[in-house]
Amino acid sequence: MKLLEVKDVTKNYPGTEILSHIELSLAPGESLAILGRSGSGKTTLLNLLAGLDTPDSGEIYFDQKPIHTLKESELAQLRGKHMGFVFQSYRLLEALTALENVCLPLELLEKDHAIQTASDLLAKLGLESKINQFPHRLSGGEQQRVAIARAIVHQPKLIIADEPTGNLDHRTGREVSDLLIESCKKFNIALLVATHDTELANKVEKRVELFDGVLKSV
Ligand SMILES: Nc1ncnc2c1ncn2[C@@H]1O[C@H](COP(=O)(O)OP(=O)(O)O)[C@@H](O)[C@H]1O
Ligand SMILES: [Mg+2]
Repeated sequence: MKLLEVKDVTKNYPGTEILSHIELSLAPGESLAILGRSGSGKTTLLNLLAGLDTPDSGEIYFDQKPIHTLKESELAQLRGKHMGFVFQSYRLLEALTALENVCLPLELLEKDHAIQTASDLLAKLGLESKINQFPHRLSGGEQQRVAIARAIVHQPKLIIADEPTGNLDHRTGREVSDLLIESCKKFNIALLVATHDTELANKVEKRVELFDGVLKSV
């Protein structure tokens, strides 16, 4: 059974075909890197898969559900429960501490013991001494580790990571990508990661590349 299936998806912006007849599938717990130069459509593709944008044609199934036809309220529920997101620019809430940022997905799902779960996870990710810090007091690598904790704390089925090492130096990028991959393996979470970082791409199970709107295995 597939966690994610993309069938013949095409997406155009005025005057350009960004994604052309994309076919893609991902099994539960599987990891896939999407490579491609800047502007090749990686973020556009991830947005379609997350239901943040709609394809011009084709079908996208997440956990058997046709996300290309779901209502915004259903999509929001599905994202909150079954997906986690990691971005190049971390996107932590600046007014909340590291711990509060990580608690948020659990609170939205009305889970019990949110503070305990979030602080245990932060400790496992080596951030025990930082839990009460606000994001601006953390380094880029630390902020990204908090963002990874936030993405996995509710044990989603899929993590979507868009250039997660793009703002980090080489060594920190390596630490963060190892953490992301290990965390997904440990909790059996599937990982879709758009990246320029070939070292990161080579550490995941499968690789595809977007070029001129077409997706090819590499
Ligand atoms: N909302 C939009 N309207 C028009 N063009 C867009 C929009 N979003 C992205 N694009 C264009 O689509 C192309 C692919 O962008 P993007 O998916 O962000 O690429 P990548 O993430 O691989 O760098 C780029 O040429 C970009 O300028
Ligand atoms: Mg992008």
